[in-house]
Amino acid sequence: MAVLARVSMTRTLAQPGSVILFVISLPGISWLGIALRDAGATVGVLDIAGPGGWDGLFETADVSDERQVRAALASFKPKMGPLRGLVNPAGRSGSGLCIGEGATLDIETFRKALEVNTLGSFIMCKLVAEEMLTCKPDDEGERGVLINVSSIVALEGQMGTAGYAASKGGINAMTLPLAREFARFGIRVMTIAPGIFETPMFNRGGKARGNMVEWLRAQVQFPARPGDPREFGAMVRHIFENPMLNGDVLRLDGAYRVPPGNPSMWLG
Ligand SMILES: NC(=O)c1ccc[n+]([C@@H]2O[C@H](COP(=O)([O-])OP(=O)(O)OC[C@H]3O[C@@H](n4cnc5c(N)ncnc54)[C@H](O)[C@@H]3O)[C@@H](O)[C@H]2O)c1
Repeated sequence: MAVLARVSMTRTLAQPGSVILFVISLPGISWLGIALRDAGATVGVLDIAGPGGWDGLFETADVSDERQVRAALASFKPKMGPLRGLVNPAGRSGSGLCIGEGATLDIETFRKALEVNTLGSFIMCKLVAEEMLTCKPDDEGERGVLINVSSIVALEGQMGTAGYAASKGGINAMTLPLAREFARFGIRVMTIAPGIFETPMFNRGGKARGNMVEWLRAQVQFPARPGDPREFGAMVRHIFENPMLNGDVLRLDGAYRVPPGNPSMWLG
């Protein structure tokens, strides 16, 4: 344990200026960018919407559009220096019943979820990894770390989540092959699969569907509450600091296992 702690300290984000991060994030949780910046990282935020509460480097871009992402990276480059980290929580829903009463999941919604969540994660990993190739490796050969965000719904989706689950399952599935391919360049690839976290997406979805939020909350075992975004941030930081984490999908869910649900939840 003591050795692990020492290894982790050599990479800690808390060494000012030693780690430069690129974070794609969101107005609702710009706390993540702020936390990483406070830890000594240089942080740029990219989002299709505005910067929200984020007051640092920001570019507008759609993660599913290669041209826009390339332009945003080019704009960040002179201001940030070499990219050594990516956190990509950009995402959208894509849920709803597909057939029968209350069906809302049309083909276009399904396609859009795949484009933003799956293709967008691939585009971000590919383009940021290409940038990382230009970074000088550290003394263990590491150039950078890519962190994607899926969902436990990818592993056990309740009814009505076929589009969202499929799009997030693609992120889980690409994690190991990308980690294996990028290993020779010293780039690690990890995915975080959150349970439920108190964010705008979570609250929006719940309000739209009657008692969905309360139903979801009741499934969390311990601590019996939705996750705090700071707990997500703690995992991001640990992944950056722990070089043995690579090629895997980590759940962050308080022993929450999604039950099958019922159609009435989507009719409210
Ligand atoms: N909140 C939860 O309970 C929960 C649970 C599991 C997984 N997740 C995942 O975590 C991530 C963050 O979720 P959140 O709850 O903070 O969501 P959120 O809706 O609050 O934030 C999503 C962000 O992604 C941005 N975005 C959407 N489409 C984009 C695009 N094409 N290009 C660039 N940016 C785009 C939005 O503008 C928004 O800022 C998502 O990928 C979500 O699927 C969230």
